[in-house]
Amino acid sequence: MERYYFDHNATTPVAPPVVDAMLPHLRAHFGNASSIHQEGQAAKQALERARRQVAAFLGCAQKEIVFTSGGTEADNLAVLGVEGHVVSSTIEHPAVLAALKNRGHFTLVAPDRSGVVSPDAVRSAMRPDTALVSIMHANNELGVVQEIAGFAEIAHAAGALFHSDGVQACGKIAIDLTGVDLYSISGHKLNAPKGVGALFVREGVALSPRQFGGRHESGRRAGTESVPLAVALGEACAMPREDYSALRDRLEEGILRSVSDTTLNSAGAPRVPNTTNIRFDGIEGEAMVIALDLRGFAVSSGAACSSGAVEPSHVLMAIGLTREQAKSSIRFSLGLGNTVEQIDRLIEAVTAAAAHLRRMAPAYA
Ligand SMILES: Cc1ncc(COP(=O)(O)O)c(C=O)c1O
Repeated sequence: MERYYFDHNATTPVAPPVVDAMLPHLRAHFGNASSIHQEGQAAKQALERARRQVAAFLGCAQKEIVFTSGGTEADNLAVLGVEGHVVSSTIEHPAVLAALKNRGHFTLVAPDRSGVVSPDAVRSAMRPDTALVSIMHANNELGVVQEIAGFAEIAHAAGALFHSDGVQACGKIAIDLTGVDLYSISGHKLNAPKGVGALFVREGVALSPRQFGGRHESGRRAGTESVPLAVALGEACAMPREDYSALRDRLEEGILRSVSDTTLNSAGAPRVPNTTNIRFDGIEGEAMVIALDLRGFAVSSGAACSSGAVEPSHVLMAIGLTREQAKSSIRFSLGLGNTVEQIDRLIEAVTAAAAHLRRMAPAYA
């Protein structure tokens, strides 16, 4: 059966030019970028070229890019590398939230019902000892985009630094790092492989490292760099990007029109153009994910299986949905390879699956 992939916020397929770019660095050019011989220097050149590509993509200087093993490590490095009180939000990814819980000394601000974090809420959470404000650029589940420049101003006015988790914004919307001190990105959300990411660290920002060893990455991140993965991230950053808003709108309108009792989560909020999150009254999200999977479609539900039980998403709970509403939400996220025909098939499949699941749910009248 043909497969249709609509879960690009979970991970993306690796783009063919990205594979082509990294292969020579797996095969012939295996050198260690810290070695002074020719093999080492070739690796070093490839690493620095990749760093330039990432920097050009983010509009920053090459030396402001620290390669990491992914978005989680970039977020951890930012959030754990600054001492003092942190202001963040309840809709952050666990890469930020769990790191904060581990370090302590933080205040979380709740968003409004559409998922937007208000500057006033962040301002009121600031304390004299606040050293960092960390607010994500785009949310992974809702796609809601925050006005990060405003949060940077609030942080700076209080003498604090500003970090943003840009993992779900990169490649989807224009990135402007004016005022931003720290910014995380992840390769596998950008058509590069898993296991690589980067943290933008504005020149002059003091950040204590999280791992210790050699003086790789200007002393910010010890460990021999993976040149093939860095090259892949650089190539992915240099790739032209498509705009999926027309396809996303077609999908959204199609589902809301064809399936009764559906609601768009975060309607009216600014969103990245590839993401839609829809609530289906009376349907268990997990059941919908399985029903669609059996029909050939990969999507994601607003719930995660933790310690054996299906728990509603903390993001959907944070925007004020009930547990049932959160558990009946489905995220569709578009990307490389999706077409109008696929969208139309997906609308048909969702319509059929919703009718089937509701027939089987006696409580749904
Ligand atoms: C918003 C956000 N931040 C951080 C991460 C973690 O990135 P990685 O999977 O590269 O560790 C993800 C991945 O789902 C994400 O969506």
